Amino acid sequence: MEILARLDAFLKEAETGIKHADSLKATEELRVKYLGRKSEITSILKRLGTLAPELRPNVGKAANEVKIKIEALLRDRIEELSNEIFDGIGRRERIDITEPGIKKETGHLHPITRMSMEIEDIFTSMGFTIATGPEVELDYYNFEALNIPPDHPARDIQDTIWTVEGSLLRTHTSCVQIRTMEKFKPPIRVIAPGRVFRYEETDASHEHTFYQIEGLMIDKNISVSNLIAVMKTMLRAVFRHDVKVRLRPGYFPFVEPGFELDITCLICGGTGCPVCKGSGWVEFLGCGLVHPNVLRMGGIDPDQYSGFAFGMGLDRLVMIRYGIDDIRLFHKGDLRFLEQF
Ligand code: PHE
Repeated sequence: MEILARLDAFLKEAETGIKHADSLKATEELRVKYLGRKSEITSILKRLGTLAPELRPNVGKAANEVKIKIEALLRDRIEELSNEIFDGIGRRERIDITEPGIKKETGHLHPITRMSMEIEDIFTSMGFTIATGPEVELDYYNFEALNIPPDHPARDIQDTIWTVEGSLLRTHTSCVQIRTMEKFKPPIRVIAPGRVFRYEETDASHEHTFYQIEGLMIDKNISVSNLIAVMKTMLRAVFRHDVKVRLRPGYFPFVEPGFELDITCLICGGTGCPVCKGSGWVEFLGCGLVHPNVLRMGGIDPDQYSGFAFGMGLDRLVMIRYGIDDIRLFHKGDLRFLEQF
């Protein structure tokens, strides 16, 4: 029987064709070719009605079987090809779950901020609280109440950036001393970290904008020995070992007596090097006992109370800690510098 033989041959051809299909696209083309509207099988099924009635059931059945077989062959081949493709991807892009992940870059705090937080922790553990004041300050708090009246020559020690009449960018954090005394009665124990400004020519050790931490302790019978004890405790905590200190007389109108506190040079250990200019000591901070005039300005009776105050440069401290030789690096925003911390 001719048609059945043709169907048989058709199935054989489809089998070989599908077996050799080498892509999903090729299988789709074969599906159109073998089962589509213009395919042999479709035309045989269409022309069933023209066949002799006794032939129709057999031919119809055979044609449907061939169609179902071809569909199955296509399905199997598609599955095979899909598996091969996924295996390929698997081989090329093998995932090694033991490999360390890619580290996400996260931001971090500026070294000065970190140092400030560290010092805040050290002082809060000694019972100090943290005070703040404005960066744009009144002449009164920056100078007058600190025993520096108008026309006092000490105004020239700190070159000032003036804003409008009577206002300025604070040249030190000592303003917070007065603001604190106005708000609280003794005993007082505060530190005041903050940004300060000077009208300054910049170089490796001078900036127009830098950071200080002010300290103020007022109570009955506060003396220089309390000042030294607190300074030593702080230095031990910051540098994690005992640091030798010495006091030299220093002039600040708001303290009496006033001192410059030096520490042994941590670069050479005190034997003398270029950093300490051969002396073995580096200037670390200004301090002293709060001047009676200043206590009075703050509404505190100097006959009953006494206190000490100190002001230290944070930039300097960070520079000593990390061996940084140019203060201007702190504000440059150069990531090559900042990412090292
Ligand atoms: N305010 C002073 C300065 O900026 C430092 C200082 C503070 C000195 C407190 C004595 C007491 O140089």
